[in-house]
Amino acid sequence: LSLLATENMGRSYHYCYEVGSTNDLAVSLALDGAPEGTCVVAEAQTKGRGRLGRSWLSVPGKGIYMSVILRPDIPPRQVPQLTLLTGIVLAATLNVMYDIDARVKWPNDVVIKGKKVAGILAESQIEPQRARFVVIGIGINVHHGQEDFSGGTFRYPPTSVTLEAPKDRKITRQHIVSNFLNNFEKAYKNYLSEGWEIWSEKLKAMSMLLGCQVVIDTGEEKIAGFACDFSPEGSLVIQLPDGEKRKVLAGDVVHVYP
Ligand code: BTN
Repeated sequence: LSLLATENMGRSYHYCYEVGSTNDLAVSLALDGAPEGTCVVAEAQTKGRGRLGRSWLSVPGKGIYMSVILRPDIPPRQVPQLTLLTGIVLAATLNVMYDIDARVKWPNDVVIKGKKVAGILAESQIEPQRARFVVIGIGINVHHGQEDFSGGTFRYPPTSVTLEAPKDRKITRQHIVSNFLNNFEKAYKNYLSEGWEIWSEKLKAMSMLLGCQVVIDTGEEKIAGFACDFSPEGSLVIQLPDGEKRKVLAGDVVHVYP
């Protein structure tokens, strides 16, 4: 990673041609004591995983399939903030590099014009009060053409950086990984020292859902209403038709009506 300008992130770097899931490999490295910032990057995954047991399309050579080990001293309930932080930094990185309007789709997607370009899967090993490690798995559609998506099943339309960036831009995965890690290290340090508040403001500015009518499936119930805010800890606040406000920490966005 020639453009890497970090202290920790990506300094320990595991590149695999093919792996089941970079998250699984990162979890086993973390259990063996791998340091914070350790990255696993694969050219292809045979068992790429998404949230809620879904699979993640891992077309060889076209996407970025990567996992980063973090060792934050935070309570488990703050782990969703790290997923959101990753989404904010990834969207901002793509926007600056390629002049696009990537946004964060709570709780774990990055979208361009409503289409999904990246997904984030955080998995943590929790001690009673503190997370001992968090593996942040990031899947980014980079060089995919529309035809690459034809065989898969998707909750909502996918897209790729190549399909959305201006045609004259040279797009390389190495560039994206280095820039992301450079930006992520700064953001993560700031988050650990200063807290979530300023990131919450950035999330509001970069969110695709705020101001929309949404239906969220929490696994226990479906909540329909107006996405009006984020709570201080990163929950989506939904105003129900009767005016009551409900906080949702995680869930599946099943409908968005702009
Ligand atoms: C989602 O949108 O549901 C999350 C997708 C996360 C995919 C990435 S690809 C690298 C890492 N390894 C995995 O098996 N999954 C994540």
